[in-house]
Amino acid sequence: MPRIVRPTAYGTPDVLAVTDVPAPHAAANGVVVEVRAAGVNPIDWKLYSGSFHAVDDDHKDAAGIAASMPALGLECAGVVTEVGAEVTGVHVGDEVIVYPVTAAYADYVTAPATAILPKPAGLGWAEAGSLLLTGTTAVHALHAAGVGAGDTVLVHGGSGGVGLMGIQLATAARATVIATAAERNHALLRELGATPVVYGPGLAGRVRAAAPQGISAAIDLAGTDEALDVSLELVADRTRIASITGSPRRATAGIKLLGYGPGQDAGAEIRAAARADLVARAGSGALRVIVDATFPLADAAKAHETGLAGHGPGKLVLIP
Ligand SMILES: NC(=O)c1ccc[n+]([C@@H]2O[C@H](COP(=O)([O-])OP(=O)(O)OC[C@H]3O[C@@H](n4cnc5c(N)ncnc54)[C@H](OP(=O)(O)O)[C@@H]3O)[C@@H](O)[C@H]2O)c1
Repeated sequence: MPRIVRPTAYGTPDVLAVTDVPAPHAAANGVVVEVRAAGVNPIDWKLYSGSFHAVDDDHKDAAGIAASMPALGLECAGVVTEVGAEVTGVHVGDEVIVYPVTAAYADYVTAPATAILPKPAGLGWAEAGSLLLTGTTAVHALHAAGVGAGDTVLVHGGSGGVGLMGIQLATAARATVIATAAERNHALLRELGATPVVYGPGLAGRVRAAAPQGISAAIDLAGTDEALDVSLELVADRTRIASITGSPRRATAGIKLLGYGPGQDAGAEIRAAARADLVARAGSGALRVIVDATFPLADAAKAHETGLAGHGPGKLVLIP
């Protein structure tokens, strides 16, 4: 039987379990995709950490799992196995990227046809399955901060999944990029066109030294007080600071807040519109999707432990 991985309770990665489920069928406007690679993102472990939802003990399914438990896996790539009656231009056997989607930690996913894009032949499965969540987030952040040619942008968290995309996209837009990362990741950031600086005490001084011309915009992908404080100190126009991480201090700082929480801009249209261009860039090799490690689907808990512990630069990916 097809498998899914889902949390059985709120908690740490040991709550993840592999469960057999019936084979899914396509809705009239949708498809079924056999998953070949599913991207892992920090939101996946945050969803069952208990920080977003209260446990609903009153509504449990036959397996004793609360109905409120989230499905995991917001992006994947795979092969179409079933096509809904109203869908045109998509065929069984097509290799596709699926984003956005839910429950992609699975052998099969269902998705509306609007969520699929053809996978470029030269793009590997792991890369294809982990391109679009971080890629579209980086596009949104750079757009919100108004980053373009001639800007000098500070990228906090440059070696993360979103940061590696943000550096490449900003560089391609002919902005100068200063990016924070641990020292061990500096060679990679330089390769991608950024000037790396270590985060930590004295960050503002190091950024000033790296960019004597000044910083015109910042994207905060790190979520630390330091990232907020240094951005406020160095960027004159607060509307050119965009953060993808929420915090009470950020909510009142006059900066752009991007995401799905209260008061944040989800940017659904700009993210959806960015998908085709990101796939084309990745397919041509102009945009590198850096994969740190792959794990069998059944080892999703190990992937999450790796993510929570801090890992090498690039994406963690599940392979069913
Ligand atoms: N709002 C949205 O739409 C949205 C979308 C995607 C992600 N997010 C959120 O954005 C954050 C980043 O996501 P991601 O996928 O890029 O995560 P990731 O791949 O896990 O990367 C996190 C990065 O944070 C860096 N880091 C650790 N401690 C730091 C510090 N004190 N200062 C600066 N950087 C530090 C690490 O760099 P080193 O290894 O070099 O130390 C690491 O590369 C997560 O919190 C995620 O939930 C939000």
